[in-house]
This record gives sequence, structure tokens and C-alpha cells, in this order.
Amino acid sequence: MSIHYQEEERLFTLHTDNSTYQMQVDKYGYLLHLYYGRRTEGCMDYLLFYSDRGFSGNPYIAGRDKTYSLDTLPQEYPVMGTGDFRNPALILCNGDGSFSCCLLYESHRIMKGKYGLEGLPAVYAEKEEAESLEITMADPVSGVKVDLLYGVLPHCDIITRTVRIRNEGEDRVTLENVQTACLDFVSGDYDLISFNGRHAMERNFQRTPVEHACQTIGSRRGMSSHQYNPMIILADHECNEDHGACYSMSFVYSGGFKAQVEKDQTGGTRALMGLMDDLFSYPLDKGETFQSPEVILTYSGHGLAGLSHNLHTCIREHVCRGRYRDGGRPILLNSWEGCYFDFTGEDIYRLAVEAKNLGIDMIVMDDGWFGKRDDDISGLGDWVVNEDKLGESLGHLVNRITDLGMKFGIWFEPECISEDSDLYRAHPDWALKIPGRDPVRARYQLVLDFSRKEVVDHIFNAVCSILDQADISYVKWDFNRSITDIFSRDTSVQGKVLYDYVLGLYDFLERLVERYPDLLLEGCSGGGGRFDAGMLYYAPQIWCSDNTDAIDRLRIQYGTSFGYPVSTMGSHVSAVPNHQTGRITPLKTRGIVAMSGTFGYELDPAHMSQEEKDEVVLQVEEYRRFRDLISQGLYYRLTNPFTEETAAWMFVSEDGSEALVSAVMQQVHGASLCTYIRLKGLKAGESYIEEKSGRIYPADALMEAGYPLPVEPGAYNAYQIFLKKI
Ligand code: GLA
Repeated sequence: MSIHYQEEERLFTLHTDNSTYQMQVDKYGYLLHLYYGRRTEGCMDYLLFYSDRGFSGNPYIAGRDKTYSLDTLPQEYPVMGTGDFRNPALILCNGDGSFSCCLLYESHRIMKGKYGLEGLPAVYAEKEEAESLEITMADPVSGVKVDLLYGVLPHCDIITRTVRIRNEGEDRVTLENVQTACLDFVSGDYDLISFNGRHAMERNFQRTPVEHACQTIGSRRGMSSHQYNPMIILADHECNEDHGACYSMSFVYSGGFKAQVEKDQTGGTRALMGLMDDLFSYPLDKGETFQSPEVILTYSGHGLAGLSHNLHTCIREHVCRGRYRDGGRPILLNSWEGCYFDFTGEDIYRLAVEAKNLGIDMIVMDDGWFGKRDDDISGLGDWVVNEDKLGESLGHLVNRITDLGMKFGIWFEPECISEDSDLYRAHPDWALKIPGRDPVRARYQLVLDFSRKEVVDHIFNAVCSILDQADISYVKWDFNRSITDIFSRDTSVQGKVLYDYVLGLYDFLERLVERYPDLLLEGCSGGGGRFDAGMLYYAPQIWCSDNTDAIDRLRIQYGTSFGYPVSTMGSHVSAVPNHQTGRITPLKTRGIVAMSGTFGYELDPAHMSQEEKDEVVLQVEEYRRFRDLISQGLYYRLTNPFTEETAAWMFVSEDGSEALVSAVMQQVHGASLCTYIRLKGLKAGESYIEEKSGRIYPADALMEAGYPLPVEPGAYNAYQIFLKKI
């Protein structure tokens, strides 16, 4: 049993193998958060500190007790208007225009298995792998009920949270802000680790102390965004990769989000994660229910590596789904950087032949095959094969390719529309636009109103009719702009459009994976603009960044690795000089960096020398050999590429018998010193043999003194070291 309720103390305790989460219904019926951290037994209500603080008011029910204030006690689900002036989890406007909702405990139930969510992605588990708790809170005045749901996956040290808000009153209420999860810590000094970026430079690691101020990250873009990833970490100041306590919150959602961390007047810390409340105002009429997206929580008492391991397992085994969840993903050659919009069917076929000769499994025909699409100004929305451009039908082309023994994949951007398209000419009102105003264009395109079912249905049918024309193994689902001009013709309440849009997107994706269970989906949004656990529920891999430069990728993939497993990171070898940075890196380096992801190529092999092609053949063989270790092994960050000259990381098989170390020199100097990389995760007391040299190393020394990297001239050298336990 991982969930316990003690009636006498009205105490809820959630245990995972290494963590404990506890809350208590107090004497007035409020639900107070007591504890989250290292696994422990007993009741932690001794942590509650009652004191009379000026300007921290008292609920009426507390009578003359000036020491009882919701402003100073740790809350499980704080609501605006109840005397707690810290950041709220819920802002609800009543029918009379007042902002208040006093949530008191009503009931609870404990269930076997992990709850699921209708229409939304969520962590899943076998019945015996998880337990769920539902605590129902009720506001006696409005009739609003709030179900707080918890899912516990003990072996992964994962706790999930979500909230369901039901209007059982008479009047309409409006949700102005719904945060899914709140973590109140009564003590501690933390750092906030978050991942910021921009298009083609996503998920840069940032660590800042939590002070008496509110730090907020989020996205108003209708997508999780390149600018901030919906995953944060709270770490003790002294926490590092290997030691110390840390917590994370990951949003299982692909639209706008908000995450806030604040140190309060009493020295407590509050962290919240949920929907972006700007552009959000969701009415609930009598009898209606609102379901928030899920947040994944995890705790590690063994530093950031342990935290990432928890999240990697959770996402790999309890978020990603489908035939390719556990592996077998094809090594692909994508046409984009090799051809951009300029190709014919014959060109794609030629790429497929080249790819076949290199040992690659699949050719992906990227943007440019449909409608009138020779550049990014026109064609989006017209999901009809441009046979004039290809010079043949899709079925014909794909047959030629599959006859080679190759798989075929194709690119779509289902959510967008070009003004210069037949679809726009037929249905100009299907694009998001505010009446009387010119819309904001981005990459010349507009966004389809996916909050409208008829729009989703039309595009779904168009996409299916393409997928039904040929033997298509893979779809790259792209989304190349942020959402603006929030206005839907289907509703008078524009504050619900962005949320309903994401539900429309998920409905489409769910229908797609149901109809094509063997299809591999790769998410993409100008690279990693929608790299989140929500998309990973449908697409087990996401194109990590439009930046394919091996050196920039070290940082992008490092940042991504904190919250997401390597098996989700789309990563390709591209040509040099790199198209985004102009940098020239060795092919070997590009290969080693791309291997720390779902490996592939994105170039025209015709421009490679025979020597380079020979090297690619070896790379492909090497990746195939190490693929399981890379995608299923424990991933360790060995250095921080933001602050250290050498980027290094490694994979260790679960039983510790094999390890693959990768290192890239970001700098080169005269009279270079030797770089020693301290390895991790090896079996203490054992020895390992390095395959290429046959040299034997003691594991403890490798972890203590390090492995000396070769000192060689040349820019951006990279090394891959395979070790086997003897
Ligand atoms: C986005 C993607 C690229 C490519 C182009 C095509 O930018 O991230 O990989 O598919 O769109 O237009």
C-alpha cells in the first residue's frame, strides 16, 4: 500500500520507495500540506507553526484564535480570497462577481491503479504498479467541488497530481486561474532550476536562488514554447548531480503554462505549476466540470542525476506509448537540410537509395510535398500530394522506396494554414483571427482554430487520406508558430479557446495513434518548441531543436536531459559548415552527439566523399550496436557544457555491466592539459575493460580520479569509450 489514511488524525500519507508526501485535514476542515521529501514514517503535523502575524487574517471559523491563518500555514490547494495572500492555485469568480472559494474537506477515496484523464495525456501504469487518491473539497457557498487527484507510482518515486473542478451550484462560476499542483515547504533554502531558450537554442540550464520575490516562468504562446520548458526543479543550495535533495514539477500539457516559485514572509517556499492564466477565463455552468492537465512530481535525495533517472523512467515507461515505446526506432534520413523545399520524387528516391547504402532504415520527406509549397509562403492546409512537383503519385514513390527495403516517413503541419491556400480561400473563418483586426502572421502563416471540432475533423480526414495512400511508417508533426489572435466563432467565451484548442489537438492525436498503431510519430515545433510530456504521450520522440550544430546541441541536449530521456530527443547528423551556425565540426563529433538521441541524418549524402560515407556506415553500425544501452540505460551527466570546456556524459546498463562514455572538446589550446573525466554509475569494487585498447581499469578509480581523454590537436574532437565489466 502506498497511500494511507489515518482516520484519527485525518492524515493522508503517500509513500514511494524513497519519498513521502503528507497532508492533513485540520480541525476546521482545511487541507494542510505537511511534508514532501525523504521517506519517513509518522505524523509530521509537528511542523506546523502557529503564530499571530499582523496582517495575516484569520478565517471566521477560527474565532478569536489569531494564530490560525491560511496566510502562514502550508496549503495543499490555496485559493484566492480566503486570506492567503501568496500565489494562489485557484482563482474563481462567483456568479455575483466575488472572488472566493473556501475549500473544505468533504470525502476521499483510495483506488488501485493510476487514474486516467478523459481527453488529456496522463501518466499511466498497470493496476498493480500504482495507487490513486481522490480528495474532494467543497465550497459550501457556491456549491463548487474540487477533486484533488494523486497518482502514486512507488517504484519510480513519482507522484502525479491533477484537479477536477465541478460546479454543483446554481450559478455560473468562472475559473480565472487553475494551477494543478502546489508545493508548500515550511523550511529550506532552495534554488530554482529552469530551462529557457529561443528558437534553435532551447532549454538552456539556469539556476537561481529562491529569494523573497516571485520567480515566474511560463508561456502565453498557446504552446509550451522554446522560451521556457514546462519543467522546473527546486534544489537545496548544496544539491549537485550526485548529492542533496531536489524536487521537480513537469507539466503533462502542450499549451501555455505557468510555474511560480516564491519565498514567503515566514521563510516558507511555495511552488506552483499549471495553466497560463493570461488569456484564460473558463466559465463553468451548473453541472459542468473542468479538468486540469496533470503535473508529475518527483523527489530525489541523491542529487540531480537521481531526479533525472526518476523522470526518465516515468516518461519512457509511463508516458510514452505505442509500438516504438521501448525501442526499434528507425534510423532515418530527413530531407530538410539536404533539399529544403527543392525536390522531386526522383530526388527523394535518390536519397532513399543513398540512405540504404549507408545502412539507414527510413527516408523522411519533409516540408514541400503538398499543395503549392515551394517556399513557406503558401500551401499549408492543402494536404493534397503535389504530383506535378513529385512527378509521380505518393503511392508510386513510396512503393519504389519500400521495394528497396526502406521505410518511408512524411512531414505534416496540421494546425496551420497559409492565406495562399485552397483551404483558406474556402474557409477563411477557420483561421484564428479577431473580427475587424488584422491577424499577426508568423512565418507568413496563421493557426487553424482547433477548438472547433469541424476544423479538427476536416484536417484529420485530409491527413488520413494521405496516410491511406501509401505504406507510411512515420509522421513528423510540426507546428511552426506561436498562437495569437485568440478568437473562435464557436464560442462567446474567448477565455476558453486556448485550452479547448489543446484538447482539439489531443483529440486529433489520440484518433491518429488509435487508427495507425504502427505509425511512429515525431513531435516538432520549429524544433523543440513543444517539447513536453503532453506531446510525448502521443509521439515518443520530438525533434529537439532546429539547431543541428553539434556544439550547440551539447547544451540543448544537456538541458533537455534533466527532464526527458535520451530516447525522446530527435537528433541528426547534418552537413558542415552547419546551416545554423556556420561552424565546422568533425563528422565523428556530429555522430557522437547525434547518437545521444534518436539517431538520424539530415543532409544530402551526394555531397559527401566516399571516405565520409564509409564513416557514416560505421556510425550507423555503432549506433545500432549501442542503441539499447543509449535508449534504456541510466544516463549520467559528467560535466556541465555551459561552464566546462569538455562536454561529457555516459550511459550505464541497468546491471552496471556495460557503459558508454561520450566526450566532446569544446575548446582547443596550445600545450593542452589532460582532461580527466570522472565516470559515474559503475559497479564499485569491479574492473572494466575498454574495448578498443583492451586496457583494464578499476571502477572506483575511474569514478574517483577519472578517465584521461586523449590530448590531440584539432577543433571539436570527440571520443566514445565503451567499457565492459569483467
Ligand atoms: C520546422 C522544423 C524543421 C523543418 C521545417 C519545415 O522548422 O523544425 O525541421 O521540418 O519546419 O518547414
